[in-house]
Amino acid sequence: MADKLIIFDTTLRDGEQSPGASMTRDEKLRIARQLERLRVDVIEAGFAASSDGDFQAVKAIANAITESTVCSLSRANDRDITRAAEALKGAKRSRIHTFIATSALHMEKKLRMTPDQVFEQAKQSVRFARNLVEDVEFSPEDGYRSDVDFLCRILEAVIHEGATTINVPDTVGYAVPELYGNFIKTLRERVPNSDKAVWSVHCHNDLGMAVANSLAGVQIGGARQVECTINGLGERAGNCSLEEIVMAVKTRKDYFGLTLGIDTQHILAASRMVSQTTGFVVQPNKAVVGANAFAHASGIHQDGVLKARDTYEIMRAEDVGWSANKIVLGKLSGRNAFKQRLQELGVELESEAETNAAFARFKELADRKSEIFDEDILALVSEESVSHEDDVFGFVKLSQRSETGELPYAAIVFTHAGKEVFCESAGNGPVDASLKAIEKHVQSGADMVLYSVNAISGSTESQGEVTVRLQNNGRIVNGVGSDPDIVVASAKAYLSALNKLQSKAEKVAAQG
Ligand code: KIV
Ligand code: ZN
Repeated sequence: MADKLIIFDTTLRDGEQSPGASMTRDEKLRIARQLERLRVDVIEAGFAASSDGDFQAVKAIANAITESTVCSLSRANDRDITRAAEALKGAKRSRIHTFIATSALHMEKKLRMTPDQVFEQAKQSVRFARNLVEDVEFSPEDGYRSDVDFLCRILEAVIHEGATTINVPDTVGYAVPELYGNFIKTLRERVPNSDKAVWSVHCHNDLGMAVANSLAGVQIGGARQVECTINGLGERAGNCSLEEIVMAVKTRKDYFGLTLGIDTQHILAASRMVSQTTGFVVQPNKAVVGANAFAHASGIHQDGVLKARDTYEIMRAEDVGWSANKIVLGKLSGRNAFKQRLQELGVELESEAETNAAFARFKELADRKSEIFDEDILALVSEESVSHEDDVFGFVKLSQRSETGELPYAAIVFTHAGKEVFCESAGNGPVDASLKAIEKHVQSGADMVLYSVNAISGSTESQGEVTVRLQNNGRIVNGVGSDPDIVVASAKAYLSALNKLQSKAEKVAAQG
């Protein structure tokens, strides 16, 4: 179908390559389910050969997802490709995505291979992958900075070997829209068998042009697949953002003339889930999913919107999952009202037990907070639906004292491998005292490279959502915690980051 734009989501692979964004198998599975609700065409679930954890995550997603194609990245060698195929065995529809660098710089300095060696390896790998699965994607890494004659030669050869999708990455975010669009067009015109494959774009956002470049690749170049991530998550400045590309193509159908399979009403829930799982906060002015994306502050705009929405709104907030009515639930709301709100928010919990546990947490929160907003509900289900089975540390309770002129003090009880531990400490402030108390016992030695607090629903009555980023022995992890008491939220976030540091996941870098 030439007018369908295929949405290939790589939040769980390229997105996860963001420092600190690594996710557990359960977290990835939960996001994959949300991506399926969103009806993305392809989910790149990970890089199976990079670590045992990633292999298990790809496998779990392959076994659980039935509507989207499940894909694993793999370097262009038999071992990686075999691992990818093994992980994907249970999938209803599977794809192997194999890549090798083709720019002179990467071949010479990184791979230390000649162009002819790269050419042979690419060809052999695609042939090998095609013997294992029907659907094979090939990416020439750093494709946009590669010699066009060499690229045409290699792409013709891999299509001949059976590659069904050709993806042209702008790995370092160097492209500008018109040039990138024309680059894809030239390749499609010059590769003799180009009509035998779907052409795909994959743009990084180093110069803030990933979405614009991807759209140019589609409109000028004729690409019919876009690789993107929720919230634009990804290495360095990130990837092309799914919500932006999808809403651009949908809102400007008059210009692009393309259809999409995406159910856009699930966009906001996906954005929240990814943000809460990774601890990467969405900026308020972020297009489509930022808190201000549909807020009109100036009097003239408000007046216009009240008279006719389309004076200042080009999309409907409801179409991407913002609810028209933000109020919400309270202490007296029952289980049915809670369940219905979850449904309206596009959240499906996996089992009755999970729903019961989430409802119990909701009641507990409603006792402490008079109004519960959508953001609170999303935060609590986000915590609830992730398995804490492998957690080494767990929050129990905390008390703290601070008074002008006095040194703040905190005492905390938390579990360590199932046993309760009590620790106390003074600190510069109550948060500092609490985290120092935890460190007294744990002695992780980790450096804190980020601490941020976000008011979930924007007022002092709201829950605080805290992100803590720790670095230890070259590993960076994010922990997230939420609670109406920001000191408690901070302790939870710190313990969550320590849990992640404990998990042994070591990875081979995708672009290494
Ligand atoms: O940016 C890139 O080049 C990639 C490839 C591995 C497809 O992510
Ligand atoms: Zn990439």
